[in-house]
Amino acid sequence: MTTFPIAKIRSDFPILEQTIRNKPLIYFDNAASCQKPNQVIDCISDFYRQDYANIHRGVHTLSQRATDKYELAREKVQNFINAKSEKEIIFVRGATEAINLVANTYGKANIKAGDEILITAMEHHANIVPWQMLCEQTGAVLKVAPIDKNGELLYSEFEKLLSDKTKLVAVTQMSNALGTVNPVKKMVAAAHAKGIPVLLDGAQAIPHLKIDVQALDCDFYVFSGHKLYAPSGIGVLYGKQALLEAMPPYQGGGDMIRTVTFEKSTYAGLPHKFEAGTPSIADTVGLGAAIDYINSIDIEAIADYEHELLVYATEQAMKIKGLTIIGQAAEKGAILSFTLDKIHPHDIGTLLDSQGIAIRAGYHCAMPVMDFFEIPATARASFAMYNTKAEIDFFMQAVTELIKIFG
Ligand code: ALA
Repeated sequence: MTTFPIAKIRSDFPILEQTIRNKPLIYFDNAASCQKPNQVIDCISDFYRQDYANIHRGVHTLSQRATDKYELAREKVQNFINAKSEKEIIFVRGATEAINLVANTYGKANIKAGDEILITAMEHHANIVPWQMLCEQTGAVLKVAPIDKNGELLYSEFEKLLSDKTKLVAVTQMSNALGTVNPVKKMVAAAHAKGIPVLLDGAQAIPHLKIDVQALDCDFYVFSGHKLYAPSGIGVLYGKQALLEAMPPYQGGGDMIRTVTFEKSTYAGLPHKFEAGTPSIADTVGLGAAIDYINSIDIEAIADYEHELLVYATEQAMKIKGLTIIGQAAEKGAILSFTLDKIHPHDIGTLLDSQGIAIRAGYHCAMPVMDFFEIPATARASFAMYNTKAEIDFFMQAVTELIKIFG
């Protein structure tokens, strides 16, 4: 087995070279957003320096070049998640916009009063609120599959909630607040056995797990670029071609039409039907560069390395008296959510910042998860491929010091 090229990887991320409050930066806020390698930063800067123009419109060389690069990024995404066709890859601003797109198009066309939409109790607000809004508009009902105190889905309860009334299942593949990885393949199969389509929220899973949408057989898969070492403001909606073709458009405007008269407009084919207006062109090209970067390392090697970090961090955290891990599912991604006796998570975050350590503290856009655990918030350390065990040691030392001071 080849060793993970951690030194090379770290040297690719210029932001990691700095000190914060005179301490080397330890960036453990990757579940909120990942840092960007030179390969992505340079790609975007080169694109603006050499290739930038609007796409799909111009006959001039720059427009054609920019269009080619934009469409090449679509092919890279298609291959990365193993979609059948590039027509199934819709560029959006992020996972949130992708879910809102499905709710406002597929949802409005197919869900009516009395129908049910099934989610889980560990969803991010982005996979709750759009469905609540749809329910308010249609009279449909939101159903929630429960979790247990380890942060694991109660799978049998999920299955029981799949009924003739269920018209859509929308679940996270990996919880941002707990790290739990759900058995989504099995969940998709169970929903399909009853003819129910499934949307998977892959915002957290995409940088950590190998994704094959055909093997998962999900109907929709959504993710954001910024958690995948790509720029913010670009994300992806994958949908099975037949579903996307049957869906009405989301936003109207340029690029999504075939013909326009004042009486009637007709719409472009996939994927452009869902991409109205000038998109985030350079960021899309940057997403392609991020995928190239990940492929140059290998997503499975990244997953193994991050798992090692998670196991190590969990072992160390369990030795600290006064620290409680929130989310102890058997299948977990590289997220360590925790609370400390006597110290509010926001204070943990601020005090760790004074040691150069960036973590997130709060409810992580998952208030129902906090309610379930009867806590206001957690502190969350989330790891990426550029983190190290030495950083975890320093972090654990800093947490231990906090407990001593406040204990
Ligand atoms: N959803 C992001 C997080 O978990 C912002 O931090």
